Amino acid sequence: PVIHREDYLPPAWLVPQIALDFALGVDETHVTSRLSVQRNPDGNGSDVLRLNGDQIAPLAVRVDGEAINDWRLDGPDLLIELHGDAHAIEIETLIKPIANSQLMGLYASNGMLCTQCEAEGFRRITFFPDRPDVLSVYSVRMAGDKAAFPILLSNGNCTAQGDGENGTHWAEWQDPWPKPSYLFALVAGDLVANSAAFTTRSGRKVALNIWVRPGDESRTQHALDSLIASMKWDEEAFGREYDLDLFNVVAVSDFNMGAMENKGLNIFNTRYVLAEPDTATDADYDAIEGVIGHEYFHNWSGNRITCRDWFQLSLKEGFTVLRDQLFSADMGSEPVKRIEDVRVLRSAQFPEDSGPLAHPIRPDSYQEISNFYTATVYNKGAEVIRMMRTMAGPERFRKGTDLYFERHDGEAATCEDFIKAIEEGAGLDLAQFRLWYSQAGTPQVQVRMVHEDNGVTLTASQAVPSTPGQAMKQPMPIPLRIALFDRETSSHDGERLIVLDKASDSFRFEGYAKAPVLSVNRGFSAPIALDVERPVDDLVFLAANDDDPFARYEAMQSLVVRHLIAAVSGNMGAASLAAERNAVKRAFAAVLDDVALDDLMRGELLMLPPVSYLAEQLLVADPSALYEAREDLKAWLGRELSASLRTLHDRVSAVPYSRDAGARGARKCKAQALIYIAAADPAEGARRADTQYWAADNMTDRQSALSVLCGLDVAERQQALDDFHKRYAGNALVIDKWFALQAGSTHPLVLDHIRDLALHPDFTMSNPNRVRALYMTAALNPKAFHDVGGEGYRTIGELIRRLDPINPQTAARFVPALGRWRRIESERAHLMKAELEKIAAAPDLSRDVREQVTKSLG
Ligand code: ARG
Ligand code: ZN
Repeated sequence: PVIHREDYLPPAWLVPQIALDFALGVDETHVTSRLSVQRNPDGNGSDVLRLNGDQIAPLAVRVDGEAINDWRLDGPDLLIELHGDAHAIEIETLIKPIANSQLMGLYASNGMLCTQCEAEGFRRITFFPDRPDVLSVYSVRMAGDKAAFPILLSNGNCTAQGDGENGTHWAEWQDPWPKPSYLFALVAGDLVANSAAFTTRSGRKVALNIWVRPGDESRTQHALDSLIASMKWDEEAFGREYDLDLFNVVAVSDFNMGAMENKGLNIFNTRYVLAEPDTATDADYDAIEGVIGHEYFHNWSGNRITCRDWFQLSLKEGFTVLRDQLFSADMGSEPVKRIEDVRVLRSAQFPEDSGPLAHPIRPDSYQEISNFYTATVYNKGAEVIRMMRTMAGPERFRKGTDLYFERHDGEAATCEDFIKAIEEGAGLDLAQFRLWYSQAGTPQVQVRMVHEDNGVTLTASQAVPSTPGQAMKQPMPIPLRIALFDRETSSHDGERLIVLDKASDSFRFEGYAKAPVLSVNRGFSAPIALDVERPVDDLVFLAANDDDPFARYEAMQSLVVRHLIAAVSGNMGAASLAAERNAVKRAFAAVLDDVALDDLMRGELLMLPPVSYLAEQLLVADPSALYEAREDLKAWLGRELSASLRTLHDRVSAVPYSRDAGARGARKCKAQALIYIAAADPAEGARRADTQYWAADNMTDRQSALSVLCGLDVAERQQALDDFHKRYAGNALVIDKWFALQAGSTHPLVLDHIRDLALHPDFTMSNPNRVRALYMTAALNPKAFHDVGGEGYRTIGELIRRLDPINPQTAARFVPALGRWRRIESERAHLMKAELEKIAAAPDLSRDVREQVTKSLG
């Protein structure tokens, strides 16, 4: 069944209050739910109360205290006919947490009980109008064995607790803030907390706890520090204050996604909580800070103001991603953060936008909402709001968000509500801009510059590609930050913002006696694909001189991209190709030698674009050709710049471990330098990587060394891998790295390694982190996935078929990799399509996988 955005109807019945009573057990949990229901004056007046369910059965149903038998089931839903305007409904269900392998609803993880209700998991616990526009005040009582579940948590505040009979105990929790069911949470288990207090700017004292399994406490300080920083930052940057006396975060090992913003009780994948230098990389630390911030920021952008329906998901996710991006930028390096965010957008979202699963940030229809927790809704959603901010400027944008928070507090709102608040508060006209919400596809923008009569004319045009269900597109407003550089002084006369809002337009700038160098889409001011025709020398100039760090990075990337695309397409003569390659080398040499550059940025600038982004540049790509061209360039640069690279690797290897920016930059450069050195000279690379591995006093260096060793056919490889496995036995997150390093390697036998790893005793299909460590890494590894014989496709196809009955949500996430077939050369495309067809033919496919496979074939 397809759900359409336009079919939205307000609920016929509201549930102002709900009381839940849990008799907890890992094998069986008994749930009694008491709802006070009221006819919605804005509803359609139906007498039928529809309560959603999913794989549950009602043990008892009572209306106003009387057991009834005339309830009906409509598929999974429970229907009760009611007369009058207000009733008390009581329903009992029995659920089996241990058997819940989907990890939606109430499930068991390492003997602990926890919940995941977004988007539609609450209906797996009890019957309820499980839609985000039904807001209720929750009170929760839970009782269970005290030894098995010493800690009992739910949303809001703990109002009472005590001991019961036979070694049981109980707790009561009340959340004063009305919330939709997807924000309900419960945790029961053996947990310890790292605690702190935070005083809000209006003087509320908040108790903070990061709850983990005993033994993990020493790895929680960074999460706790990040939480405190988030709370402070949201007060300053957005004027948002926390609204309860307690904020709990719980880390669980089995979790489908990153984390969940349940009111007052965030539940996290352990990978976004646990960190210490020996087990977590710098990237892990950054991800923890970002996700802790993200979930905390949801308290306003998501919880205080929630979504009317799931089509509005980007209302909370796009905005919250923007908020977490701005937070991380303020905590660390703003330019480096921007580059990282753009890299994610291009490697994850651009392929979505150009493939069979393309959808606007506010989708028009879905079959399974879990499939729409995408880079489009999240990351492009953030870019769209960032454009509003760019056009208004930060101060006026803040007026817009202030108005939004004030006007819609306590409501289930829509994207349209948000746009209107920004329009009014920030003083923008977003009439045409709304197209960014309704049109899918990455705009292709062409910019040409002509210098004449002491001035320049920029001609810009845009085309938004057709996407499934949207053949014709209209031009959208595209804000472009530009600067015109003087070649001699290497400076410009100020940045300008132009907005291209027609299919084609021109912009004239006077007062340039000589032709300037154009820097455009600075800071990645619009999420577009840009085509600027300009000489290679201009790119080399910008790579060395642009004062916008993103633009500098972009110039480097463009140099590499156009060279590699030319190399594989064979439409450029050998001499021109060699000239371009030399330009790339000059740019890299400048980055290696620029003493004014900080190492974090240097490390960033040295990264070659991923194959997925290169493939995006071509209508039909041969992934092996791109992969080989990229490897060749890497090795060539490594040879040509060998002296500088070794000097760099030596210099940064002498920097002692610390978490400050200089030392993190050193580690980033260490990793990059090693990659080039090993590509050029495997023996030297192996020697340096081996030394680095065994000398490492932190995970960043150990992992970057092992990553290089993993790609080499050398004796040191297995020794280091065995040591790593032994050293970190029992630490699930690090063992995940052990799987991922091998599955992501460039080793010639990588597919054999993946096959063996699937049979390793540490591998399990029931833990999503482990599944992703092995198989998502493989699916994203062009060498493994696009193996010419189709072995990579078969591996992922078989995984999807085996995982679907266990965890459909996670299984469905692997389909888009195969869904790219139309953009891959025909021989491989055929093999990819065959895998999709095989999945489609499997009996009893989940709705999750069915939707993705059907659309990918369609
Ligand atoms: N709202 C969560 C976050 O982005 C993600 C929850 C996704 N859950 C799901 N079942 N898809 O912070
Ligand atoms: Zn979120």
